[in-house]
Amino acid sequence: MDLKIAVLAGDGIGPEVTNEAVKVLKAIALRFGHDFNFAEALLGACAIDKYNEALPANTLQICQEADAVLLGAVGHPKYDNNPDAPIRPEQGLLAIRKALQLFANIRPITIYDKLIPQSPLKADRIAGVDIAIYRELTGGIYFGEKFLSEDKTVASDLCTYSVKEIEQIAHMAFKAAQNRRKKLTLVDKANVLETSRLWRRVVTQIATEYPDVALDFLFVDNAAMQLILNPKQFDVMLTENMFGDILSDEASVIGGSIGLAASASVGDTYSLFEPIHGSYPAATGKGIANPVASILSAALLLEHFDLYDEAAAIKNAVAASIDQNFCTPDIFADSTYSTSDVGDFIESLILGNETFTNS
Ligand code: IPM
Ligand code: MN
Repeated sequence: MDLKIAVLAGDGIGPEVTNEAVKVLKAIALRFGHDFNFAEALLGACAIDKYNEALPANTLQICQEADAVLLGAVGHPKYDNNPDAPIRPEQGLLAIRKALQLFANIRPITIYDKLIPQSPLKADRIAGVDIAIYRELTGGIYFGEKFLSEDKTVASDLCTYSVKEIEQIAHMAFKAAQNRRKKLTLVDKANVLETSRLWRRVVTQIATEYPDVALDFLFVDNAAMQLILNPKQFDVMLTENMFGDILSDEASVIGGSIGLAASASVGDTYSLFEPIHGSYPAATGKGIANPVASILSAALLLEHFDLYDEAAAIKNAVAASIDQNFCTPDIFADSTYSTSDVGDFIESLILGNETFTNS
């Protein structure tokens, strides 16, 4: 298969981890006889530095012309404590999600048996956890009208959802549940928020089209607690933008590290794949960032194009690397393997290069 992949490595550790994902995709192309072409473009702080824009028009065009987008991370500390910054790196990420209409962000959460001891939770609570978080990505409070009074003493962010916005991701989540354990949990705050009550009405209605899927509801505060108490109860979790952002970070560490958690953002036309972690400024340039989330995002990219054997080759290689303790220090604190060591090892497993030794 020919695939044109736009690569937006972004800021901080983004370029380091994305480099390993590209390396792995090139190994897949070689082993399975595909032709993957990569087109790099700037997004986030690096784009602001060069073009004074977080999402330059040229970057958007490269993404629109590609079959898929592979994204690293955006963000830079110089903006984090400057509330007056006129342009922020994160605006680039939000703008590209909106421009490509990537309304569904899918964040799978699973556990490697080997890493059960690394989890902050007790082993019996987490063995076998397998959750798919469906986070709405182009609506809600992230994109609502913002307001700051002239004297800067009052601010507001509006949360808005339409029936259509809820329907499009809900159908996707129900279909996913049909192919999984047939359970869907809608997470909301329907005891307080009008938008949440709209979500409940729309999702309850749509559920009648998926009679084989059991639907239940949880308030978001309770969901945060249940993820720690009993994460095995969850199959598909469907939720709005900000709740999904928060709960997916929480869920990701059940598996031992946020550095393992990948995501797929999809709409009707475009698709984008990125780790759920951020730009991790403190680790930038140190070679300690975990490339696995980015590498597994590449596997999600391949699955999106029905390249299931290829995706499995990546996932098996990642599992084998973890099984052999071939991990960055976020997983095993005393590990001396670097970002590129881990990428090289996974690449060598994909290529069947037995000469690579784990020493
Ligand atoms: C994520 C990130 C982004 C988000 C930030 C960087 C804008 O936290 O992808 O989860 O909140 O969506
Ligand atoms: Mn987040």
